[in-house]
Amino acid sequence: MIDFYLNGRRQHCSDVTADTSLLELLRTRLGQTGTKEGCASGDCGACTVAIGEPDADGELVYHNANACITPAHQVDGCHLVTVEGLARGERLHPAQAAMVDCHGSQCGFCTPGIVMSLFTLYENQRRRPAPLTQDRLEEALGGNLCRCTGYRPIRDAALKMVDYPQADPEWAEDTRLAGNVAWLRRPRNGEPAAEGHYVAPQDLAALRALKAKRPEARLVAGGTDLWLETTQQLKALDDIIDVRQVAELNAIEETAEGWWIGAAVTLARLTPLLAEPYPAFAHLMHRFASSQIRNRATLGGNIANASPIGDTPPVLLALDARLRLDGPRGTRELPLADFFLDYKRTALAGDEFIAAIFLPRPAEGTNLKVWKLSKRREDDISAVLGAFAWRLEDGVMRDVHLAFGGMAAIPRRAPAAEAALEGRTPDADAFAEARAALAGELTPMSDVRGSADYRRLAAGNLLERLRLMITAGHGRADDADNNNPATKVTLDAYAH
Ligand SMILES: Cc1cc2nc3c(=O)[nH]c(=O)nc-3n(C[C@H](O)[C@H](O)[C@H](O)COP(=O)(O)OP(=O)(O)OC[C@H]3O[C@@H](n4cnc5c(N)ncnc54)[C@H](O)[C@@H]3O)c2cc1C
Ligand code: FES
Ligand code: FES
Repeated sequence: MIDFYLNGRRQHCSDVTADTSLLELLRTRLGQTGTKEGCASGDCGACTVAIGEPDADGELVYHNANACITPAHQVDGCHLVTVEGLARGERLHPAQAAMVDCHGSQCGFCTPGIVMSLFTLYENQRRRPAPLTQDRLEEALGGNLCRCTGYRPIRDAALKMVDYPQADPEWAEDTRLAGNVAWLRRPRNGEPAAEGHYVAPQDLAALRALKAKRPEARLVAGGTDLWLETTQQLKALDDIIDVRQVAELNAIEETAEGWWIGAAVTLARLTPLLAEPYPAFAHLMHRFASSQIRNRATLGGNIANASPIGDTPPVLLALDARLRLDGPRGTRELPLADFFLDYKRTALAGDEFIAAIFLPRPAEGTNLKVWKLSKRREDDISAVLGAFAWRLEDGVMRDVHLAFGGMAAIPRRAPAAEAALEGRTPDADAFAEARAALAGELTPMSDVRGSADYRRLAAGNLLERLRLMITAGHGRADDADNNNPATKVTLDAYAH
């Protein structure tokens, strides 16, 4: 049984198969066809909805999500808002009225999704007013593609909607809604939520017990990788354990040495934590997919998925991160570097799961630079990602960690290139040796994102970019901006 509120009305949906997507539930079971299917793979945003969950103060906070790759069972205990839930009779919500007034729609296929991303921005703006900068607009709309209107009118609507007189949906006047939603989420004494072949344990003990009983069941966290198996490969996912509600997997524990980050912590929640110790890592998070994806996707899912082009593993490798694996037979820790064995093969045993990721605090003087190369800036997966950590001690490089994504069957470090730089001044000779070593030790593949030759060249160029940055005096730990205009000039010159 999925028990939730849809546009302010309680819904009970029973007999929903484990692999039903939220989009399918809305369109085929609930007759809510305003939410569209474009790509069914999280790329276009036509299916965007807003999911409301109570915060610590009991207030409903909304985030946008792709209904096509959200498991239907994950709206259990939530308030789901779709495009049908915004207007009040003839009176449009400001997000809709501004789209009409700014001519933000032509064929209209993308429009419901864009309106829902604007609605989420509007709600967040109301809770925490802040200037609507270009960056914020791109962040809010980066996961919504439009083929015919063009983005300027849509951007104009985003800027304009906040000045419209408030016009809340009918459900917003129900003062009991947040409390009612919170009640649906009450602790269930270890009883897993949902039912049958889709279970959502709420604590570690229940997850371990389920893993012991059903080692073959697939784990799902955000579903932003796993769900593509059903929508793109048409595979049945008929036995699922959802880790999203496991309290321990949602904890972030700060210690003197660093942070234990629960595997089910979403990327949206992780990003502010990274801003202070690792600004370059936080910056990367804004280039990770779209807000719809980051709101659902988890750090544990990004690692367990073991893609050679996953964005966080190279950064975590450069920072010497560790994992805590858990399961019915106990807990163990291992360096992330020992986790990836071969293409999509990891050290995880059948009955184990990732419980937490340890992110060490930066040692005094540590620098981190991260560069993601992809064809599009927003909502695209890396062709190559380079993550570089080092210290400068009396002018020589120490503790050099060079890690790459897209350069082998697994995300990995480049020990020979590191050795070429360790203890050396960051000069052209040392980096030329490092680039030569790199070419010999990494074996990228050719695919739609880039040929092996392109990747080899690009990875070598990233090392040269690093040298230019270091010698130009950038790359300090506090240098958050990978797009520093001064450095950009040098790099643009280098690119020609
Ligand atoms: C449109 C789109 C854009 C994307 N862009 C990017 C991008 O820019 N960069 C990038 O790196 N990725 C990207 N991805 C991939 C995906 O969003 C990430 O890999 C994400 O972090 C996966 O997390 P999740 O919680 O959704 O994982 P899920 O899909 O829920 O799970 C992924 C895998 O991990 C397993 N798993 C999940 N949690 C655990 C756990 N605790 N222990 C053990 N196994 C577990 C699952 O069984 C599954 O095999 C994109 C995906 C889409 C659809
Ligand atoms: S249908 Fe394209 S993102 Fe969902
Ligand atoms: S209005 Fe046609 S795709 Fe956007």
